[in-house]
Amino acid sequence: MRLALAGAGLFGEEHLRALARIEGVEVAAIADINGKAAQGAAERHGVKDWGTDIIPLIDRHRPDGLIIATPGHTHVPLAKAALARGIPVLVEKPVAMTAADAALLAEADAKGPAFVLPGHVLRFSEPHRMIFDVIASGAIGRVLSFASRRYRDDSHALRYTDIDPIMMTMIHDIDLALWMTGAFVSEVLARRSPADRQHRSHTLMTAGGRNGASWSLTTAWTFPGEALPPDRIEIVGEQGGIDFETATYIRQYGTSPRSIDLAGQEDVSLIAEDSCFVDCIRKGKRPGIVTSGDAYAGLQIAEAAMASLREGGIVRLP
Ligand SMILES: NC(=O)c1ccc[n+]([C@@H]2O[C@H](COP(=O)([O-])OP(=O)(O)OC[C@H]3O[C@@H](n4cnc5c(N)ncnc54)[C@H](O)[C@@H]3O)[C@@H](O)[C@H]2O)c1
Repeated sequence: MRLALAGAGLFGEEHLRALARIEGVEVAAIADINGKAAQGAAERHGVKDWGTDIIPLIDRHRPDGLIIATPGHTHVPLAKAALARGIPVLVEKPVAMTAADAALLAEADAKGPAFVLPGHVLRFSEPHRMIFDVIASGAIGRVLSFASRRYRDDSHALRYTDIDPIMMTMIHDIDLALWMTGAFVSEVLARRSPADRQHRSHTLMTAGGRNGASWSLTTAWTFPGEALPPDRIEIVGEQGGIDFETATYIRQYGTSPRSIDLAGQEDVSLIAEDSCFVDCIRKGKRPGIVTSGDAYAGLQIAEAAMASLREGGIVRLP
């Protein structure tokens, strides 16, 4: 299995570390518009070829798959170029910067045979899958409400100035809420504080699911230093609920209450995501855990949240 990587920044390096732990996978080439970054990553990870443009590299090496870990605005053109050459792509989130572009990507994906795997890493996380399984088992009844918080340190406000926190961080929670509540939304209302600041801010998004579930998602890129409140999810069902704190616990309430201690467990979700990509290529099957259609749905909601911030009111979705 020979893969190529576009983007040798922080998350490209994470993918390289994850790929090194998957048997039978070789990275044939790395591209980064910053040649030094590409060369450095290639040297650190024993990759023989590197360059500043991924297209000639994939033409030269014809890899079995391409991982795209570049900034969001480059995802769709790079993914479409690879798909047009019959090369499957793992595209980091957000797969596109607009829902219209995500729809184009989903169209290119549907044409096949090469597929798109959106890098929605939390769909591959064991604790998140356990929560989904509890919901799917019916143990807490119908989901009435999904709430989450995902706070990041304020270096995000300096590192990711070309992307809104909704598209960069809250997109995870939008995807989780879609997955765990099982329905699209009919209306979205977002608030940001301070209202005149885009990046170093706190954002609250509330939404109403088409199945009646309430969503309440928060993110902030305001925390100085590395000590942060852990990511949390709270789900209320008709017959119980679930509280989850990343790397700490899952608590299930209702007729079969239980608590699962997560302390000390290694987070292997990125290895699971990359393994899924490799496995789909090996077996010639399309990914089922998360699809370009899911990514498109999430981006429609993210766009509605940003429209709500701009226009100051509820945005209704058809
Ligand atoms: N799933 C997650 O939890 C998670 C976490 C962090 C980042 N990400 C995603 O990974 C992607 C990269 O984020 P990052 O934190 O590594 O950013 P980064 O800025 O550290 O790295 C991006 C790299 O891409 C390079 N680049 C820009 N345009 C390029 C192009 N056209 N071709 C090749 N290289 C190009 C830049 O020079 C840079 O080195 C983003 O889409 C981000 O949203 C996902």
